[in-house]
Amino acid sequence: MQIDFTGRVAVVTGAASGMGAATARAFRAAGAKVLLVDRNAALLNAVALELDASLEQVTTMVGDVSQSAFCDAVIAQAVTHFGRVDAVVNAAGIIVRAGAVDTTDEDWMRIMGVNVSGVFFMARAAARAMVAQGSGSIVNFGSIWGDVGAAGVAAYCASKGAVHNLTRAMALEHAQHGVRVNAVCPGEVNTPMLASERNEPVSAALLERLAQSVPMGRLAEPEEIARVVLFLSSDLASYMTGSLVTVDAGYTAR
Ligand SMILES: NC(=O)c1ccc[n+]([C@@H]2O[C@H](COP(=O)([O-])OP(=O)(O)OC[C@H]3O[C@@H](n4cnc5c(N)ncnc54)[C@H](O)[C@@H]3O)[C@@H](O)[C@H]2O)c1
Repeated sequence: MQIDFTGRVAVVTGAASGMGAATARAFRAAGAKVLLVDRNAALLNAVALELDASLEQVTTMVGDVSQSAFCDAVIAQAVTHFGRVDAVVNAAGIIVRAGAVDTTDEDWMRIMGVNVSGVFFMARAAARAMVAQGSGSIVNFGSIWGDVGAAGVAAYCASKGAVHNLTRAMALEHAQHGVRVNAVCPGEVNTPMLASERNEPVSAALLERLAQSVPMGRLAEPEEIARVVLFLSSDLASYMTGSLVTVDAGYTAR
């Protein structure tokens, strides 16, 4: 049983870095045409050229997923440029490292804008196109912090909890339309987000502490999550919708 996306089209947000980039690589390796989306133009172009130097099977759109008009334009572009949209993966996301009492209004609105509105706007645009097409898969990036709480990242926890239940609601709304909606919920993953919004650089001691917080004793590599996203997006997951698939080396099993 092989996952084959030949002739199919995937849209991946957050594709310039971390798990979004790893997911884009996995789709290309499975033969998909891919529309890469991110707000970081330089990194996005580098990933696009790495995946297809001719830029025939890969194209990009630079912009901010918290803007609904941009998300509508992304899905319209996938259909115009490649003719269809089979898989949409919402990996773009940010973190705010503050407890609730230290979270500013601006930080709250910023993280809700990207992590919740960004996922909603893109999933809504994707679902509209997929319902018209009669098929498709949406995979949203949730998190272990959408499932269990964590001190010091209150707004992030709230944003990922929202993604989890948005995923369930949209799965039910489109279960009769041939459109599956699932979420992947990673634990601690070795991506640039680990260093993001910290007051100090990531030290070896911090990495070791994070690794020791995981039952398997190590961080995930982005590819270990991307493989699950590819599976969820594929026909092998044909009976899965509304699922929150935890990939955390046992973190939330305790
Ligand atoms: N790294 C982890 O441990 C971890 C764990 C659980 C869940 N997640 C989630 O996985 C997803 C991917 O995270 P990652 O670790 O690969 O992060 P990352 O920082 O490596 O990549 C995130 C990408 O999203 C892009 N992005 C951010 N805001 C955007 C916006 N408004 N519009 C367009 N692009 C935007 C960034 O430019 C970046 O390229 C995120 O949703 C994150 O919350 C990460």
